[in-house]
Amino acid sequence: MPGTFSSSSVLDWPPARACPMSPPPALGVARDGLPTLVRLPAGVGEEQLVWLITRYEDVKAALKDPRLSADEIRPGFPLRFPVAADSRPSGFLRMDDPDHGRLRRTVAPEFTVRRVRALRPRVRELTDQVADELAAGPQPADLVQDFAGKVSALVIARLLGIPDEHTAFFLEQTQIMLTDGEPELSLAAHHRIIAFLDEHARAKEHDPGDDLVSRLVHNHLATGELDRADLLDILKLLLVAGHESTATQIAVSTLSLLTDDALRTEVLADSGALLPNFVEESMRFWSIVQDGVVRQATEDLRIGETLVRQGESVMISLLAANHDPAAFPDPERLDIHRDASGHLLWGRGAHFCLGASLGRLEVTLALDSLFTRLPTLRLACEASQLRFREHPVFHALAELPLAW
Ligand code: HEM
Repeated sequence: MPGTFSSSSVLDWPPARACPMSPPPALGVARDGLPTLVRLPAGVGEEQLVWLITRYEDVKAALKDPRLSADEIRPGFPLRFPVAADSRPSGFLRMDDPDHGRLRRTVAPEFTVRRVRALRPRVRELTDQVADELAAGPQPADLVQDFAGKVSALVIARLLGIPDEHTAFFLEQTQIMLTDGEPELSLAAHHRIIAFLDEHARAKEHDPGDDLVSRLVHNHLATGELDRADLLDILKLLLVAGHESTATQIAVSTLSLLTDDALRTEVLADSGALLPNFVEESMRFWSIVQDGVVRQATEDLRIGETLVRQGESVMISLLAANHDPAAFPDPERLDIHRDASGHLLWGRGAHFCLGASLGRLEVTLALDSLFTRLPTLRLACEASQLRFREHPVFHALAELPLAW
């Protein structure tokens, strides 16, 4: 494949940030300049060159283009994590239709706006409970471990009917699985998660409850519509996709409120009337998904000024798109009065985030409970001392020390 590319600029991935609260400057340069290639580090496969898509309109078009495949089994697909011989670790997120649609449809009814609205009281109870536990615990506390991670893990665990006490196990295994540059460890964690989910699903076959796994087992596995490998891949995808993303978003949104008193006062006034606007704008502003969105061209196509040949791959930067001044003027400003609803952090097209309504609800209620139960919350270190993790997918805080 090398040799089919003709471009004037190559960017080593991941590009460095000058400040953790702003996108890497190189993304802006790429957005304003000629078609750009990124050099992906050798991870699972070999070092690889892929096209970088950065402009808002181009990113939106690319996400909806059926000529760009998400199927990670395709030869040459830029893998970020290892693919087990007997399974697809990323589930239908990394498949194309018709298989993608067939699997997605079995769980989609669980995530409709109506279903998520019905979950609201249960999620509220949980965010209040975890905020109360935080308030009763020692100071300083770490919001990432002691609140954000717990909230998102418990929500997804309860949705799947997994007992609360097992969340620590899958939190640990998910972290290992998503560790860059350690394919063997990652694969071993994948197998442990699958074994755990298999045991859980078999238990639900004998003793069903009012949960997603019981419904999948009885409505789709028992009918033969899903086989066991499909079922486990779906469950693993939900466990992984639903947890780390939401926890990361809760943490960075909290940081924004703790470092800007005027913003905090405005957002929390009138019982948090502006909280939903803040959540959406904070998602655009932080755009935590750094490099998780990759696709491979099944035929030659043009995305904006970039000509992508069949077999070449693209890195679709949601972060660059959400900071494109053509779509969001003065993008480096977190402005709760702008209409951020068109941001692309939930993706677009066939793979649009299945958990968007749930994720939005979780982040909103988590912030509401946190600042209501701990009104004197403050950072327990200088903002300049905060560390961000070298996370392969998300721009995530390593910890967020808090006192109150
Ligand atoms: C702030 C939180 C979240 C963010 C930023 C986020 C972001 C995304 C993005 C960008 C995609 C599309 C990736 C692509 O096109 O390659 C996606 C897909 C997905 N997300 Fe989320 N997500 C979040 C929360 C959740 C939650 C709570 C769940 C619930 C289980 C979830 C489940 C999924 C699933 C199943 C997919 C795959 C959809 C498909 O391929 O059809 N996400 N998410």
